[in-house]
Amino acid sequence: MPSYIAQGALPPKRHIQFRRPDGGLYAEELFSTKGFESVYSLLYHLRPPTATLEVRDWKRRVPTFSPNEPLRNRHFLTQYNKTTGDAIEARVPLVGNSDLTMYVADVTGPMEYFYRNVGGDELLFIHRGEGLLQTNFGELEYRARDYVVIPSGTTYRMLPTFPTRVVTWDSIGMVTIPKKYRNAFGQLEEAAPYYERDFRAPILRAPHEETGEFEVRVSNNGRNAIYIVQNHPCDVIGWDGYCYPYAFNVDEFMPITGKLHQPPPAHATFEAPGAAFCAFVPRMFDYHPLAIPVPYNHSSVDCDEILYYVSGNFMSRRGVSEGSITLHAAGAPHGPQPGAVESSLGKTSTDEIAVMVDTFKPLLIAQPALDLEDPKYFRSWIEETTKA
Ligand SMILES: [Fe+2]
Repeated sequence: MPSYIAQGALPPKRHIQFRRPDGGLYAEELFSTKGFESVYSLLYHLRPPTATLEVRDWKRRVPTFSPNEPLRNRHFLTQYNKTTGDAIEARVPLVGNSDLTMYVADVTGPMEYFYRNVGGDELLFIHRGEGLLQTNFGELEYRARDYVVIPSGTTYRMLPTFPTRVVTWDSIGMVTIPKKYRNAFGQLEEAAPYYERDFRAPILRAPHEETGEFEVRVSNNGRNAIYIVQNHPCDVIGWDGYCYPYAFNVDEFMPITGKLHQPPPAHATFEAPGAAFCAFVPRMFDYHPLAIPVPYNHSSVDCDEILYYVSGNFMSRRGVSEGSITLHAAGAPHGPQPGAVESSLGKTSTDEIAVMVDTFKPLLIAQPALDLEDPKYFRSWIEETTKA
């Protein structure tokens, strides 16, 4: 919802008669959030989106989580994940709490059905691959390093043209652009690291006119169902409003750098209830003559930090590679590993890409993450000469 968009055919006013060429009425749908009080869109369907033929059980696997005990910093090597499938079936749960669940998925095939998560917004990060998200708002092409925001209630399916690795964060609420980047009128401020033009909305193509039996898998915070609907979910002839899925590529993120080290909030991309997202992208390092480019040691006592390593040389971290995830637990000190400070001195830039989420409630860990864990990670700050 970076700004208002209108696509396709629309009547001159909302909530009035809008007729098809055959004389029948288009079916208006209000797609609203927070009741009727937050962002919304109006969609015009060829036929009513309400025509449900059948509701079936969807026996979806429920992830099980355990506390981070003993409480420590952890490293999960998701690059060794073996689960594949379509974008929903391939999801492997990693960490989560009552605000957010994080998955990784190695997507090898198209979804033969549609998916609708009405439990909150989804934030996707495409690590590798490309393809299409077919949605009721139109077609959204995705490529490597895209963030994709999918509002709660969007009906979609992922159709990869190349094998796709996607990180997904399921939020309990809305994924939004941080308020600090917006002026009083909602426009992105001049000092923001991105601009409205950097965001890509779906392109509305000709509506799918088919009727028949279409499968929509619906999920809402652990309650699941399969709907068989009579009208193709992508039969929209026009829509307008502020609420729609959109993509933003981190290559378009213009990082804010400084004379001294900038903390993660300078790299904020999105926020959600109980969660703050950041992106670390190629950038010039700090330019004070005595600057130390890598971060200082710190304990984030208020949040758990999850970093997903995308590409480049991760200068402050030893032993991580593309697809690694580190969990730095609230209160557990972390920082550059031995030798990283000295070797960073004099460096002028970094080519690293990593995406981060900080959560303000403790993260629980799902079994698949434990199966991919390097259990010695918490010892990685010990100098080689003193390791037992
Ligand atoms: Fe940190």
